[in-house]
Amino acid sequence: MRRFVIIGQRASASPDFSLEDVAGTGGRIDVLLRCLRAALLVSHGVRRDTLVYLVLLGGVRAPKAIRIDGRDAEYLRPDERSLALLMKKVLTTAGDEPAFVVGRHGISVANGGLDTVLEDLGAMTPYVLEPAGNDVRGVALDTRDPVFFVGDHLGFDARSRARLQSIGAAPIGIGPMSIHAEDAVAIASNEVDRQASAREANIRR
Ligand SMILES: C[S@@+](CC[C@H](N)C(=O)[O-])C[C@H]1O[C@@H](n2cnc3c(N)ncnc32)[C@H](O)[C@@H]1O
Repeated sequence: MRRFVIIGQRASASPDFSLEDVAGTGGRIDVLLRCLRAALLVSHGVRRDTLVYLVLLGGVRAPKAIRIDGRDAEYLRPDERSLALLMKKVLTTAGDEPAFVVGRHGISVANGGLDTVLEDLGAMTPYVLEPAGNDVRGVALDTRDPVFFVGDHLGFDARSRARLQSIGAAPIGIGPMSIHAEDAVAIASNEVDRQASAREANIRR
């Protein structure tokens, strides 16, 4: 499975943000929602080979982690407002269990942050998306079980960065410019697509 973990330093872990001003009242949870769309939704469909974790570190109910599994995802719409409404519903019904509790349509919630996600990920090849990282075009990616960690509009907080270093996450850059997180997700995923199809073509030859 291809996996993306988006860490929202201030993203609201409680449902009390306004749909009329998701960015202003949700601790920039809008950034995470756009990453979710970029990772999981393609034209007229869902990437069934992809799983997304949103780590919500903002607000009184933090931390919470939401896992969206492309294998079971249904009724996901690409517009930000619909995704924000979905998150509101998920956060409203979330309990306080420390491990992921599977809910409807492939969406699970856990009362925990990055460490809870790391426990859930199990075996993986971890990459951290960083503008100063090694150019993705010069890296032979693991196209089967890659996990990409992505920062929000503020990048990574020092604690998360240190934790990712401790698991040996390789810094990967997808270009010389610091771009929006959702664009970084789309490009990284596209790079996995390209490398995977190039490898398949080589095997068939
Ligand atoms: C808007 S950027 C963060 C900008 C923030 N001001 C900083 O200095 O880290 C959001 C996230 O997108 C990813 N990102 C943006 N540009 C990238 C690039 N050129 N290569 C790799 N990842 C990138 C990183 O994960 C980054 O934390």
